[in-house]
Amino acid sequence: MIGIFDSGLGGLSVLAAVARALPAADLAYLADTAHVPYGGRPDGFIRDRVLAIGDHMVAAGCRMLVVACNTATAAAVNELRRRHAGVPVVGVEPGVKPAAASTRSGHIAVLATEFTARSERLARLIRDHAGHVRVHVEACPGWATRVETLHLADPELAAEVAARVAPLLDRGVDRLVLGCTHYSFLAGPLAAVAGGRAELVDVAEAVARQVVRLAGEAARGRGNLELSATARPERLAAALPVLGLGALAARLSRPPALARA
Ligand code: DGL
Repeated sequence: MIGIFDSGLGGLSVLAAVARALPAADLAYLADTAHVPYGGRPDGFIRDRVLAIGDHMVAAGCRMLVVACNTATAAAVNELRRRHAGVPVVGVEPGVKPAAASTRSGHIAVLATEFTARSERLARLIRDHAGHVRVHVEACPGWATRVETLHLADPELAAEVAARVAPLLDRGVDRLVLGCTHYSFLAGPLAAVAGGRAELVDVAEAVARQVVRLAGEAARGRGNLELSATARPERLAAALPVLGLGALAARLSRPPALARA
């Protein structure tokens, strides 16, 4: 079984990609909805949550972990790897590398949580892969919470997204890196403001390919899916159709459960 987790609904974008790539794998998804959002929280808090959830999922039988959250990856993926040395751990990092390799204007933007935006891990990623382009790092406080409410067609949300992204486009940005898994579900409003001027860069499919490469035995199963959350688990099943992930519902082996992680 492969364990995939996030602070909330954002990691469902990664879960969907993994489910498509590995139809026979048993998948367990945990949303830490009692503590979402992570983005404005201190380092130690996020780290403790990542380790507690990792322990919980390994104890439940997961033989691989996917940290489907850029913020949690930046805070604690190395420590999680050290703690569960025999378990492959895949993290999620903003797609700086593909954006820097494909930009024509030489300007890319990374949209991320406050934590990821100021993280040393992102700074290193930019140094290593985007030294030759101008990288605009844009913290987007409140966006993950907006996704959690599932009011994605709210005109106020579209206006908020436009207010943050339009100035980046005016500065010549032609690649918008979705540096938070929640932002995959904002692709509609983001594409609307980007028009033909910028492409969205989402790493969910690339993460799924890495999971396929490393999964080994963990990929064997019956194609079951278990959803759990640390608060209001019933919202997970309700969220699937709203987020365009109705197909995942067919894989559910039981109703979403409360996770005591
Ligand atoms: N989905 C998460 C990420 O990829 C975190 C959102 C949050 O909890 O602030 O960064």
